[in-house]
Amino acid sequence: MTSEERASFGSKLGMILATAGGAVGLGNVWRFPYMAGDNGGAAFIVVYLCCVLLLGIPCMLSEFIIGRHGAANTFRAYNKMSGGNAWKYVGLLGVVTGFLITGYYAVVSGWCLQYVYASLVGELKGNPQYVMDYFTTFSHNPVRPAIWTLVILFTAHFVIIHGVRGGIERASKLMMPTLFVLLLTIVVASCLLPGADKGVDFLLRPDFSKMTKSMFLGALGQSFYSLSIAMGCICTYASYFSRQTNLLKSALQISVIDTIVAILAGLMIFPAAFSVGVNPDSGPSLIFITLPNVFNQAFGGMPAVGWVVSLLFYLLLSVAALTSLMSLHEVSTSFFFEELHITRKKGAVIVTVSCGIIGVLCSLSLGSWDFLRIGGMDLFDLFDFVTGQIFLPLGGMLTCVFLGWFVPRKTVRDEFTSWGTVSGAFFGIYLFLLRFVCPLAILAIFLHQFGII
Ligand code: PFF
Repeated sequence: MTSEERASFGSKLGMILATAGGAVGLGNVWRFPYMAGDNGGAAFIVVYLCCVLLLGIPCMLSEFIIGRHGAANTFRAYNKMSGGNAWKYVGLLGVVTGFLITGYYAVVSGWCLQYVYASLVGELKGNPQYVMDYFTTFSHNPVRPAIWTLVILFTAHFVIIHGVRGGIERASKLMMPTLFVLLLTIVVASCLLPGADKGVDFLLRPDFSKMTKSMFLGALGQSFYSLSIAMGCICTYASYFSRQTNLLKSALQISVIDTIVAILAGLMIFPAAFSVGVNPDSGPSLIFITLPNVFNQAFGGMPAVGWVVSLLFYLLLSVAALTSLMSLHEVSTSFFFEELHITRKKGAVIVTVSCGIIGVLCSLSLGSWDFLRIGGMDLFDLFDFVTGQIFLPLGGMLTCVFLGWFVPRKTVRDEFTSWGTVSGAFFGIYLFLLRFVCPLAILAIFLHQFGII
């Protein structure tokens, strides 16, 4: 396919909403609140904001530069930027990371759909122990989670086969405003509860005595996760940007949207949790185990409101997960259809079938097929570990080193300034962050994960 024929986003708004949709996902609504809850609330948020500014935005910008320059899938874009040398394999690593994440991300996205269904039919009502056991019973079932995994993967497939404008952009323009309306509705309902102010305080009033090294590194990792850095998504979407796009401004806008959604997610969860005296430090199980009970208790006097809030919450989670799943799917779809010279549809089928198999195996490994273990980890945890703890930091760090040290400065500057049409005032700061701050900070996260520092 020549660059003239290549797809692109049709409007600036569509481009921002689609890319922000890729970034806004379970990381914002599921991971951010529990990370903040575990790490002291507001102090974590302050550190997180610094990480987004100093690391997340430069890394996102780097992927924008490589993607738009290449106007091709992530592997080919790195190949073009490197002039065909070994750095192209960093692009391939991004594609592999995106591909592997797609399968297991579909599993968690499928759980969200199950919880929409369960809220709708009132299955999440009952005594607190029943609600807590509900998740274990469901996730250990061999069939149900696998079916939901496939349902959400097919939904992403359906959007992707309609192309960049007719599929991704159109769906994002519908889903992102829906997401904001749902988010704001639940924030209002949660903040109106008696005693909600303690939750708002926890989230917005920093206590810096709670700052620790692991909070700092946790915030760094979270900023990468949340902004979808180093998994090919940002680079792939940037390959559909126009030459007029102001890359720095777009990176700022997308990061602001992503961060606002994360903070609003905290404002949905913490006021409700504090109003019933639940401490929001229950880790990853927060939204599937703790939260249904919080909703039941908090809105106990108004069961209809509780039903609506719970339903809207899991709908919101599903919409956020779906827009991210689409961006992950697109990474491998564009790779297959461009590299194998097949149609977009065929590329998407390869991804849906193979990621469907990975997803179903991951799901089964949590329950009835618990013999599916490697190195003591079930497949689900293994994919999470290999992609999140090894491939993401490695890909992020190598991208910074590649662009900061090996690509000619003029090439980077030309993309940064859109060939002199936008200001290059921040280029020096960007290059400094890219060359020194980002690689060292990412190295620190990496070493910390393995207990080396
Ligand atoms: N950035 C998205 C999120 O926050 O959910 C997408 C994503 C992040 C997908 C990390 C997968 C992943 F491992």
